[in-house]
Amino acid sequence: MLKIERLQAGYGPAKVLFDISLAVGAGEVVTLLGRNGMGKTTTIRSVMGLLRPTGGAVTFEGRDLFGRPPYRIAKAGIGLVPEGRQVFPTLTVEENLVATAASREGRKRWTLREVYGLFPRLQERRGNLGSQLSGGEQQMLAIGRALMTNPKLLILDEATEGLAPLIRLEIWDVLKRLKAAGESILVVDKNVEALATFADRHVVIEKGRVAWTGTSQDLRSDPSVKDRYLHV
Ligand SMILES: Nc1ncnc2c1ncn2[C@@H]1O[C@H](COP(=O)(O)OP(=O)(O)O)[C@@H](O)[C@H]1O
Ligand SMILES: [Mg+2]
Repeated sequence: MLKIERLQAGYGPAKVLFDISLAVGAGEVVTLLGRNGMGKTTTIRSVMGLLRPTGGAVTFEGRDLFGRPPYRIAKAGIGLVPEGRQVFPTLTVEENLVATAASREGRKRWTLREVYGLFPRLQERRGNLGSQLSGGEQQMLAIGRALMTNPKLLILDEATEGLAPLIRLEIWDVLKRLKAAGESILVVDKNVEALATFADRHVVIEKGRVAWTGTSQDLRSDPSVKDRYLHV
């Protein structure tokens, strides 16, 4: 579905991505891993059109998305749960969810009922403002909001960052359920142990380059990967 090839990007004169290649197939969960500052968010921003890449290729279902504006990329079927959640603070939970609801034809459409089924907590909080939610609730809302756009591919950037352990488990459980339902997911996270229980493949980046790729089984059979590229 998503194919990134030799992607390069940076901020002004500062080059951050030198050579990032990765692919996510239909129904696959792929992780993008690496220590802080290695270029994970820059990769996601480049894919989503929030930053204009300087080289390489980005295709989605065979369509060229390189350098396209964010609305085109959302329309092509990529939903983003951004780093820092970024829910609308002055809208209610329900207004946040409805604000991004898409009207694309020909695909299963996520409804409020289905999002509330995935996150019963959001239903209880449906009338509360975004600013009144806990970090975990905001994260659930950010995921629900992305699902309401009916993405073919969901990208999550550090969705469990700063959350209490129990809430993290809840978020991962939701990702497992989405995978079981056939969704395709690209997930940026630091908790490689938890992700290895359900992700298909992993891509580790270091200083803007892919340093290691493999399956969850590869990762388990080579613990040095974590020491080399992930632990501080
Ligand atoms: N808006 C920005 N302007 C300049 N440099 C940035 C900006 N955002 C990130 N960087 C730099 O780009 C590098 C990669 O950052 P980022 O992609 O956010 O890493 P990660 O998500 O892996 O932690 C870091 O050195 C960071 O300081
Ligand atoms: Mg980041």
